[in-house]
Amino acid sequence: MDTIPNEGFPKAAKNEPCCVQAEAGKTIAWCTCGLSEKQPFCDGRHKQIEGMPYKSLKVTFEQQEEVWLCQCKQTKNPPYCDGSHRNL
Ligand code: FES
Repeated sequence: MDTIPNEGFPKAAKNEPCCVQAEAGKTIAWCTCGLSEKQPFCDGRHKQIEGMPYKSLKVTFEQQEEVWLCQCKQTKNPPYCDGSHRNL
């Protein structure tokens, strides 16, 4: 079990969003800590860190469309990119 670092969370996995094809009724688990190696999705990494306050955000899409999911983890409209990565 790793110990959570004091600062730097959530970690910016990438400084750009990821385009994903959403499907109606499909649920995804979006990574909020930034440590997942399957960005922008959660791979359970947060569970291996003691004291980690971040966990995945589950989102069910309502329609089939292209969506841009945040990977910098600073968005104010999770899991979608709101352009916040430009300020990093
Ligand atoms: S990638 Fe995070 S706001 Fe754009």
